[in-house]
Amino acid sequence: MQLRINGESREVDADGDTPLLWVIRDDLGMTGTKYGCGLAQCGACSVMVDGVITRSCVTPVESVADSAITTIEAIEQDAVGKRVVEAWVKHQVPQCGYCQSGQVMAATALLKENASPSAEDVHAAMVNLCRCGTYNAIEAAMMDLAGIENTAPESEAAGGGEGGLGAGTIAAGVAVAAGAAVAGGALVRRSRKAKAAGQETSPEARPETRNEEEGA
Ligand code: FES
Ligand code: FES
Repeated sequence: MQLRINGESREVDADGDTPLLWVIRDDLGMTGTKYGCGLAQCGACSVMVDGVITRSCVTPVESVADSAITTIEAIEQDAVGKRVVEAWVKHQVPQCGYCQSGQVMAATALLKENASPSAEDVHAAMVNLCRCGTYNAIEAAMMDLAGIENTAPESEAAGGGEGGLGAGTIAAGVAVAAGAAVAGGALVRRSRKAKAAGQETSPEARPETRNEEEGA
């Protein structure tokens, strides 16, 4: 199967129902896109598909075979993406950094669609979860990029403030955590090697796999 990714055509050998995230990370070796929940909730795995923000953990690779895929590795080749990265640096947004690829992708997709978003547009688009709680810094960077004066007091901004970034996403995070606990290992990674060996990676083994990936 051919994928158009970051302006290049790449041949990948994957089953059509393999999540795009696994192909990006394991087959193509681009580890900037992260695995968070695997449930289309956290946004850590966000990429752009034909300019549309897409959660790659639940996107079958065959569904994007004819599309232009952009990952964090190429984001600075895009003028808007470059501006976003510069704003992220200016406002010192990342803490651990794990969610930030997805945050930058979401910000870039929004600004490419709407160069002058309102605060409401920003809050509606920037819904990715951040376990470090960088919502105040994301809000500052986004308001800067949108040319909106950020008047939120620090104390409110730190928690996202009422109606600001973080208020909804923190609540969503609680729901995601609960949902993930119930779902358990609903999304089980199926690597080609495991499949070739007639084995599936068990849910119990997944944390180990994730740790390996996080260190990648
Ligand atoms: S890993 Fe895809 S949305 Fe969380
Ligand atoms: S910066 Fe750590 S999860 Fe967002």
